[in-house]
Amino acid sequence: MNQLNFDINFFVDNIWQKKPIVIKKGIRNFNDPISPEELAGLAMESDVASRVVVTKGDDWEIVHGPFEDYETFGEQGWQLLVQAANHWHEASTNFTEAFRFLPDWRFDDLMVSFAAVNGGVGPHIDNYDVFIIQGSGKRHWKVGNKGKHKPRHNDPQSALVEDFTPIIDETLEPGDILYIPPGFPHSGTTLENSMSYSLGYRAPSQQELFNDLADFLMDNELGKQRYESTIKATGKGAVGRSEQVDLMQLISDFVNTPENHQAALGTLLSKNRFELDISPDDSIEAEDIISSINDGCDFTRIGGLKVLCLEQDCQRRLFVDGESYSFNQTSEEILAYLSDHLVLENDWLKEQVKDNELLDFLTQMFQLGYVYVQE
Ligand code: SIN
Ligand code: CO
Repeated sequence: MNQLNFDINFFVDNIWQKKPIVIKKGIRNFNDPISPEELAGLAMESDVASRVVVTKGDDWEIVHGPFEDYETFGEQGWQLLVQAANHWHEASTNFTEAFRFLPDWRFDDLMVSFAAVNGGVGPHIDNYDVFIIQGSGKRHWKVGNKGKHKPRHNDPQSALVEDFTPIIDETLEPGDILYIPPGFPHSGTTLENSMSYSLGYRAPSQQELFNDLADFLMDNELGKQRYESTIKATGKGAVGRSEQVDLMQLISDFVNTPENHQAALGTLLSKNRFELDISPDDSIEAEDIISSINDGCDFTRIGGLKVLCLEQDCQRRLFVDGESYSFNQTSEEILAYLSDHLVLENDWLKEQVKDNELLDFLTQMFQLGYVYVQE
């Protein structure tokens, strides 16, 4: 497995969310987890989100996948990008494991790209943190400072920005890592046909949180308490200041109660933005789980599935892909193990499977297609 070759604590304390940085040989002896051919194959699938960006002089044109072939793009000046490759390709899933020093709920997806010489997506700004890891090949990257950057060609619809003065101007080679926090403009161009790996991190905005919380309330018939007041009108057309405060208090009372916000947060943070590679099978029964364990199998979680537990949760439960699973007797240690481990090893399973509640949970996970037995 590719291992990180930098001081993680220093990175988290001093760099993360603060400033862009190039970490030369951030992964030593880098091995590409996926080949360009495999990537091209993934982008032929309709469930997989992919696009090709074609360099057109000073502009960039996007073609959305799935693709039937790549010949039209020629030898140079294009880049294929595949979102959530970790959902569809096992070695790519394993590649993300080294970055779990940041919690799973923050992680969005692994985007893998193949760039032909002169390929790139153009100068742009992301509103998420990204690690861009250079695989085989070489790409030249420029990163500018935060600030006011004009949309390209003065087109407010453009996702691109005008050229900027770089504060980082470097060529990345296999195993080099470029980390960019939100808001810093960046642009990469390709010197030698390249594979690169972008791990993106989510940071919900107030808008998104409000929206998701509202959905959660509707789905669960919650938040129906109404405003009550005995206050005399301050003026015929006036909304009194204390009434304004009391109205907002209705919201903060709701969200500040752990019973309410924990269920909502667990639900919304465990949902995935990209499709998961699931094959549900209702016919699986607890007996089948027991025989797989007796046969010595490990159980593997599908790529990208979020299995979250909330610290100091008011209930004993796990949140898996937007659903909550409650437990009565299963210990918190077991729940923590389930949320930490992408692979449940056979020795552990043999030890724990006496717990019927755990067996039921695993059976449900298999039925939903979230867990499978590795061949
Ligand atoms: C790229 O690899 O050029 C796109 C990745 C990014 O800018 O986040
Ligand atoms: Co970017």
